[in-house]
Amino acid sequence: MVGTKIDGKVIAQTVKDRVKKAVEELKTQGINPCLATILVGDNPASATYVRNKHTACDEIGIITKDHKLDVNISQKQLDEIIENLNNDSSVHGILVQLPLPEQLDEFATTSRISPLKDVDGLTPHNTGLLAMKKAVLVACTPSGIMEMFDYHEIDLDGKNIVLINRSNLVGKPLYHLLLEKNATIVTCHSRTKNLTDLCQAADIIITAVGNRNKFTLTPKMIKEGAIVIDVAISRFQEKLVGDSDFDEIIQKASFATPVPGGVGPMTVAILLKNTITAASLSTQIGRQF
Ligand SMILES: NC(=O)c1ccc[n+]([C@@H]2O[C@H](COP(=O)([O-])OP(=O)(O)OC[C@H]3O[C@@H](n4cnc5c(N)ncnc54)[C@H](OP(=O)(O)O)[C@@H]3O)[C@@H](O)[C@H]2O)c1
Repeated sequence: MVGTKIDGKVIAQTVKDRVKKAVEELKTQGINPCLATILVGDNPASATYVRNKHTACDEIGIITKDHKLDVNISQKQLDEIIENLNNDSSVHGILVQLPLPEQLDEFATTSRISPLKDVDGLTPHNTGLLAMKKAVLVACTPSGIMEMFDYHEIDLDGKNIVLINRSNLVGKPLYHLLLEKNATIVTCHSRTKNLTDLCQAADIIITAVGNRNKFTLTPKMIKEGAIVIDVAISRFQEKLVGDSDFDEIIQKASFATPVPGGVGPMTVAILLKNTITAASLSTQIGRQF
């Protein structure tokens, strides 16, 4: 079997087209959607991620406010900047690029962001709402993966899913989204035993380890016709790779995502979507797009 490529660039464009229309609609009502980003220090990968997010915003008419902060900034100074953005009515979304330097506490920092402007969906308030099936702003990568399933009309009801990741950014929010769709989820991590057996029994495998020295999902580990969503991005042997090799896995899978060009573009598209949802929440409209 040679399966179907789940093309993140194509699906992300459909999301962006929807968001662009919503931006135009909001502008006719006098609302100029605006995303504020905070980058602490000069980590080149983080700087690239923030730049890409700004470019994507520019393309569809979302205003950006860029805050590049000194690597040695204190928690108190960072908290003040976030508080000012929380109180700035022209700013609808706030994104703090992670990871942060050691002196800063990621949980304390993200918790400072107003839940109504939490476009990354990482505040305790919004993660709690997600667990209660009431979330409006949901973490971008998990939300993007759900868009991919929707696009290909992949029914998750009753499916056995192996989810290899338990982070706050990926695994935990995704678990709740999959559960809402009536999937049966086995959440795996570095201490999971018999991972190969679990993968071989799964209808869908979503993998986000990001370290080829620790884990590679090979075709032998999946059943014929399984669906593979590869979230990971890492450098291995001078190449940008996921946890699996797309060209090999697609020979056995019914659907699979490539890396790059799979989940990555979806994450950015959902950030744009969350920004306009936040902008509409700031008004009486309060719609989700
Ligand atoms: N495409 C995108 O837009 C996007 C967005 C977010 C993240 N990512 C990528 O996704 C990957 C994960 O990101 P993250 O922030 O969630 O990282 P993380 O916090 O390091 O999570 C990695 C997960 O892999 C598990 N793991 C480690 N070794 C394993 C093994 N041998 N077998 C099974 N599980 C193992 C870890 O288990 P423990 O919990 O036990 O440590 C952890 O749950 C990275 O490559 C990242 O770049 C991509």
